[in-house]
Amino acid sequence: MGEVDPAFIQALEHQPKLDITEAEGIPLIDLSPLNSSNTDADLSNLVAEIGDACKNWGFFQVINHGVPSKCREKIESVARKFFALSKEEKKKVSKDQDNPLGYYDTELTKNVRDWREVFDFTLMNQVIIPASPEPEDKELKQLINQWPEYPPELRDACEEYAAEMEKQAYKLLELIALSLGLPKTRLNGFFKDNNSYARLNHYQPCHVPHLVLGLGRHKDGGAVTILAQDDVGGLEVKRKTDGEWVLVKPTPNAFIVNVGDVIQVWSNDKYESVEHRVMVNSERERFSFPFFFCPAHSTWVEPVEELINKDNPAKYKAYNWGKFYANRRRSNIKKLGVENIQIYHFRI
Ligand code: OGA
Ligand code: NI
Repeated sequence: MGEVDPAFIQALEHQPKLDITEAEGIPLIDLSPLNSSNTDADLSNLVAEIGDACKNWGFFQVINHGVPSKCREKIESVARKFFALSKEEKKKVSKDQDNPLGYYDTELTKNVRDWREVFDFTLMNQVIIPASPEPEDKELKQLINQWPEYPPELRDACEEYAAEMEKQAYKLLELIALSLGLPKTRLNGFFKDNNSYARLNHYQPCHVPHLVLGLGRHKDGGAVTILAQDDVGGLEVKRKTDGEWVLVKPTPNAFIVNVGDVIQVWSNDKYESVEHRVMVNSERERFSFPFFFCPAHSTWVEPVEELINKDNPAKYKAYNWGKFYANRRRSNIKKLGVENIQIYHFRI
């Protein structure tokens, strides 16, 4: 067995169990009631299913979502071609201190290296974000996607994928709003000029899968994450009922959906953002393609007014999404020796 850089080794209590027993998995939800031919009763059943899944798991899979399979095949094909390039070629589009978009292979989650490489891009080709996490710094900066020369079809495939994911994200957001008893489009306004982003993840095979993680345990900071995974599997979700790590079994053509920290705050903890992580495989490489649906940077995130009252007072004070995002970005690159920003820091 070859040497492994100690920076990748997880503390004992976070090392994954490889012999996972098949347990009850996250709910599988059929989105076909959103087709116009279905009845109101079908729709209200769907809304109830979404609400239960958000409350009990924070995670679910969707089928009959309407995303063309071609779109998904294309993103997988360009990801394979891109990550197969030499390091030198990939590093031509490396992210750096100034631009968090592009290629990188040195990310840390909770100060341990992740066994993966990544390519990040935003839905809009140019986005404006706060220049620093410091609250008093009002300076903004513009981020621009860095598209590689090879494969030449990567940009189109990524743009098409992100556009399809955004359509899905709005549908899911509306179902989530309905399930909270809010008007369907109550949350949509926060996403005008949203700076959502997407990622190509490549998890290489690893000869010590019991010691490392492809991606360490974390919660997603945005509102809703939608993810396509291939048939290798490795994503694990922390089950709310008993804290066990449960594998999300790959389901052909399904997308995995989870609520992020922003929904937790909007719902005043009714829907919690749940921890998840990724195991690596000793033989097969794995690809996954998450889309992080995030509010506009100027958004102040706080519990939705209609959902709080004197029996259920607001559990969070408002925080600025752009600053939260800038803070996360900084600590994911640098080993700071401290925990990165979390929503509980805004608990009242
Ligand atoms: C993420 C994530 C899971 C996966 O990128 O935030 O949780 O299966 N990815 O790659
Ligand atoms: Ni995640």
